[in-house]
Amino acid sequence: SVWQQKWVVGNWKMNGRTESNRALLGDIAALPAAERVCIGIAPPLPYLAQARAATAQAGNRIHLAAQEVSRFADNGAYTGEVSAHMLADAGADLVLVGHSERSLYFAETHAERRQKLENVLAAGLQPLLCVGETLAQREAGQEQNTVAAQLDVLANLNSRHIAVAYEPVWAIGTGKVATTAQIAQMHEFIYRHILSLCGSDVNIRILYGGSVNEQNAADIFSVAHVDGALVGGASLKGGSFAAIIRAAE
Ligand code: G3P
Repeated sequence: SVWQQKWVVGNWKMNGRTESNRALLGDIAALPAAERVCIGIAPPLPYLAQARAATAQAGNRIHLAAQEVSRFADNGAYTGEVSAHMLADAGADLVLVGHSERSLYFAETHAERRQKLENVLAAGLQPLLCVGETLAQREAGQEQNTVAAQLDVLANLNSRHIAVAYEPVWAIGTGKVATTAQIAQMHEFIYRHILSLCGSDVNIRILYGGSVNEQNAADIFSVAHVDGALVGGASLKGGSFAAIIRAAE
């Protein structure tokens, strides 16, 4: 099951065009079967259908993720919004919730994240909750409190399958990767906190995100409780993404 595999999910963020996607998706569709890796890509919404079609030949090996979802569950007068049911209909099976860029630029609140998690689950999709502290929070010794508060939206969630990505904000797109010691400490903390919130009978995947690349991936994957990676910049290059997947095998 995917709950025993390492997840390597490419978050394209706001990058891509139909033409340039073709080459990248071609590389991804041609990836050799990786038995121990669950591969996912999160293209911008206008390209979900293109991604679905381009990876169809690889069967269900390539999971499609959405980067964002509406906090509104049902159809209605919500101009600009895309519901979890629409994402399911478009072929997504994974949805990012709470990425730090959503709170940085769109002031997303804990309550909104909770609503999004519930909508994603109600649509039969798997949420991937992103958490992580800023540099100021880490320097103040508040990294664990910060992450714990972000994880609290998982309490009493109606799901036995919890997927979280730990992305220290200071490591995103900066080339500054957290040390394996920092990652080990936080992933252990997240694992225990999820157990305390959700009970011991949950399936858990904890991904690391923040400047993962083909050079550092193997070291990161060797850390206890690192169950995969959420990859930004390096997922836009087919060769780098493939190398990260190989490192996870
Ligand atoms: O969601 C992935 C992410 O925020 C990390 O981005 O470019 O540092 O790999 P990047």
